[in-house]
Amino acid sequence: MKNVLLLLTFFLIFSCKEEVKIEAANTDVQGMSATAPEQLGKEIFEGKGNCSACHQPNTKVIGPSISDIAKKYKEQNGNLIAFLKEESAPIVDPSQYEVMRTNFAITKTFSEEELKAVEAYFYSHLK
Ligand code: HEC
Repeated sequence: MKNVLLLLTFFLIFSCKEEVKIEAANTDVQGMSATAPEQLGKEIFEGKGNCSACHQPNTKVIGPSISDIAKKYKEQNGNLIAFLKEESAPIVDPSQYEVMRTNFAITKTFSEEELKAVEAYFYSHLK
């Protein structure tokens, strides 16, 4: 019986610690997005998203430029996040949609926060 109690105590202490750690990590992520969502978006865009392989800030390469996409989405009140989740149709260059579609395998792994950051990065090119 004593051993069981001891074990239980250890377990409780351990699980409390874990919770604190997780909370601290969340605060970190939130703190970062509160200060610079565009920066996080840029990192994703140029990093794990590999979006910059086809999208440049102001010139069309393989895909339309970031500023052209941002302009179109703003004008038409489009939902960029829905597009990246493959929940809405293309509005910028539908004739090239098949090329863009291959990227949904990546964008669907993004968290809601990462998607918002990418959206913020797009819209930062309107300024
Ligand atoms: C292999 C090249 C390629 C890569 C890599 C790529 N794109 Fe695209 N993207 C395109 C092309 C081509 C279009 C134009 C077709 C279209 O409008 O759907 C496009 C269009 C878009 C559009 C406009 C969609 C619309 O409404 O028409 C968005 C937003 C976009 N890309 C975001 C991204 C993001 C975010 C990434 C990185 C995760 C990415 N793209 C990676 C080629 C690419």
